[in-house]
Amino acid sequence: MQNFTFHNPTRIIFGEGQIAALDAHVPPNARVLITSGGGSIKSNGVLAQVQAALGERAWHVFSGIEPNPTYETLMEAVALARQKNVDFLLAVGGGSVIDGTKFIAAALKFDGEPWDILARQAPVREAVPFGSVLTLPATGSEMNNGSVISHRAKGDKLFFTSDATYPLFSVLDPTTTYSLPPRQIANGVVDAFVHIIEQYLTYPVDAKVQDRFAEGLLLTLTEVGPQALAEPHNYAVRANLMWTATLALNGLIGAGVPQDWATHMLGHELTALHGLDHAQTLAIVLPAMLSVRHESKRAKLLQYAERVWNITEGSADERISAAITATRGFFERMSVATRLRDYQIDEQSIDKLVAKLDEHGMTQLGEHGDVTLEVSRQVYQFAA
Ligand code: NZQ
Ligand code: ZN
Repeated sequence: MQNFTFHNPTRIIFGEGQIAALDAHVPPNARVLITSGGGSIKSNGVLAQVQAALGERAWHVFSGIEPNPTYETLMEAVALARQKNVDFLLAVGGGSVIDGTKFIAAALKFDGEPWDILARQAPVREAVPFGSVLTLPATGSEMNNGSVISHRAKGDKLFFTSDATYPLFSVLDPTTTYSLPPRQIANGVVDAFVHIIEQYLTYPVDAKVQDRFAEGLLLTLTEVGPQALAEPHNYAVRANLMWTATLALNGLIGAGVPQDWATHMLGHELTALHGLDHAQTLAIVLPAMLSVRHESKRAKLLQYAERVWNITEGSADERISAAITATRGFFERMSVATRLRDYQIDEQSIDKLVAKLDEHGMTQLGEHGDVTLEVSRQVYQFAA
């Protein structure tokens, strides 16, 4: 096992009816900016529950944070927060709203041009405190310090992390997910699955607990993912999905092990250039990535084949190939297509995608730093 430091300061408040607990966790005198997306929290009644829980506190709402939140929109929220003199942010929504709120929180305290936080990785030392009410199990943003922001004008999608951008708390009420459309449930399952893979499917370092935790989370997703689509109001299924997606990216399974993240980086360019949902990009890139890099991931691919997919027969190459096929099959069973052509993207765009990776310095990705631009090109080609 590798050396590590693990610290996660986010308090999780989990279960049906827990939005009411906001009253105990938002500072009593806070001037709150509620940040939200395109309207789902109004139609499903979540906003009303939040407002009731805030009681007499002064609050304003900023709505309109879009999926793949943009710098342009978030800077409007920064202006509103300044104008209203707010001192606490409450993100109510999915990963995009929470990621966007991390950026707003950081930008409000940042000296200089806030896009530098993404483009130049300018350190974020301070942020306005914030909490979240999660309505979409997927990204893990509710219990991590990462944020992925797009710049519409530049066609960039970049990330930052900071110790100052962990949510103080996150409320996870599985009943808030009942109103999700099937596409977003499927996206969430695929995103969480790939988060686990990015931290698990690298090379062995004899980290037994991390491996078995990761395998347990993967197995849970293969079980509850299809159930979540089939039975939208099954509380137990939604609760298991929600907690699995949080644990998939809260630092626990990634502590002390090598991490990959190349699939995410290639996926971000696909969203930036073609507007695909984040999870759609991962479903396209991951099977191709595993195929192209099967030699360097050989030992872990064999372990994954046996422990997650119960594949124990055939030669090593056959088992690896069967595990990759099972992975693709799982995404397709969740109704997320896995080829570029399924989204009307042809091979001509590969040059542009590779040029963007180059522009963003993504030239030595993966756990060995050996995913060069040439390897990335092969992955996109394999995914065609
Ligand atoms: O905008 P509203 O009206 O709220 O609708 C949203 C949105 O259209 C809807 N939705 C959310 N909760 C709902 C609901 N509709 C009905 N009922 C509910 N309860 O779902 C749509 C998608 O929402 P979004 O927040 O974009 O989805 P997700 O949670 O998948 O977040 C994706 C974003 O997170 C980033 C991605 O890059 C992408 O920008 N990621 C963040 C990570 C992190 N911070 O650690 C890691 C991930 O790898 C990922 O990159
Ligand atoms: Zn992701």
